[in-house]
Amino acid sequence: MYERKPMIAGNWKMNLSLKEAAELIKTIRNGIGGVEGVDVLVAPPFTHLGRVREAIGDSGIFMAGQNMHWDVSGAYTGEISGRMLQEATCTHVILGHSERRILFGETSEQVDLKVKAATFLGLIPIVCVGETLEQREADQTFEVIRTQLDLSLNNFKADELMRPSTILAYEPVWAIGTGRTATPAQAQEVHRFIRGWIEENFNTGSAAQVRVLYGGSVKPENIADLMSQPDIDGALVGGASLKGDSFVQIIRYKEGQSG
Ligand code: 13P
Repeated sequence: MYERKPMIAGNWKMNLSLKEAAELIKTIRNGIGGVEGVDVLVAPPFTHLGRVREAIGDSGIFMAGQNMHWDVSGAYTGEISGRMLQEATCTHVILGHSERRILFGETSEQVDLKVKAATFLGLIPIVCVGETLEQREADQTFEVIRTQLDLSLNNFKADELMRPSTILAYEPVWAIGTGRTATPAQAQEVHRFIRGWIEENFNTGSAAQVRVLYGGSVKPENIADLMSQPDIDGALVGGASLKGDSFVQIIRYKEGQSG
């Protein structure tokens, strides 16, 4: 069976001063010494990318943008292009986060354009999907996830190609910032569904290799149980990634790495 390398990613959202960001990276660097077999990524605010890159140094921590526009340049006041993220040394970009979809009206069609542009540039997209509480209670979870995937990854479908480096994130909206985590079984069920969708639309190779992260109130207390599920390949962490100690504990979730 193909072994997917776990990834623990911190989405800082609109938080931290420059100084706090540099200190947080320092704590993470000190805390992850000797940890192997886990990719670590942080997604700072745009204005922090330069300083964070300096702080990351040679530690191997990956850096992502939290969003981007699909065009390379142009009259788009307030926007950032994928090329700009690359110049700022980002290797990844989070796309279609529910906060962008819900608070800023981003559609799956726009996410699709962004995914296409990022992939073209060689930036690895971390594409987020997730249902609201209302949708879950109405038993629409799978339908909602399928539609989000179909529309947000439409260009992959048209090309009949999904690069194995692509990362997906299942973030149930009702679990984000609420302290209410999906149970490992609830998360696994949706992750399994997402992997099935990849297999159905592409091939077993992509389905085996694409990492699917879970996001929504991930904490040091629940990470190990989530990671024990076969289709959960990592975590996209919000609040608990802002504190060095808790983020390091999440990264060191495997037994034997806590010392
Ligand atoms: P919390 O970990 O704060 O619930 O946020 C999750 C998230 O939205 C990560 O992208």
